[in-house]
Amino acid sequence: MVKKNTCVFISGKGSNLKNLISYSRDNVFPIRISLIISNNKKAYGINYAKKFKIPYIFINTKSKNYENKIFLYLKKYKISLICLAGYMKIISNKFIKEYRGKIINIHPSLLPKFKGLNTFSRMLKVKEKKAGCTVHYVNEKLDGGNKILQKAFPIEKKDNEKILKIKTQRLEYRAFPEAIIKIFRNN
Ligand code: GAR
Repeated sequence: MVKKNTCVFISGKGSNLKNLISYSRDNVFPIRISLIISNNKKAYGINYAKKFKIPYIFINTKSKNYENKIFLYLKKYKISLICLAGYMKIISNKFIKEYRGKIINIHPSLLPKFKGLNTFSRMLKVKEKKAGCTVHYVNEKLDGGNKILQKAFPIEKKDNEKILKIKTQRLEYRAFPEAIIKIFRNN
């Protein structure tokens, strides 16, 4: 099997990145993580790049034309899939056009519900019954692209934001790899 060269974008902890790295080390998993991009110099996730000797770059999103720099790196590493794993920066329409159908994101809610930030506090506020995560294609609308896969769990009375995050991320660690397998099974 020829693995697809994949770039993971992160901004923080990188636990989904760590999980994807671990899956990608399996010969039958369809992707290889060839590059990691962080918009945050202090992102803990960079440590996984170092630990597993995966090329990584820091992108200063305050600098002009920073996406052009990203394009160059994506070309250099022949990237055919981009995984947004806790990347907290909006991607431009130009970028999305260039990589249409090749950018996927993991979001901590059952989309189309609770797009955007602070998903858990908003769920609790409206006494939502179910939480979960969604892996979806990225298009021009925030958290609005076609769904690839969702996983849900019931919200219990004792659940607070912290617990919801833990439960959601536990599901994310299964959802992201499954979504990637699903994409390439259909190809
Ligand atoms: C993940 O839970 C992901 O769903 C969320 O950020 C977290 C990153 O955690 N993404 C978003 O909220 C995107 N809008 P990680 O850095 O430990 O993988």
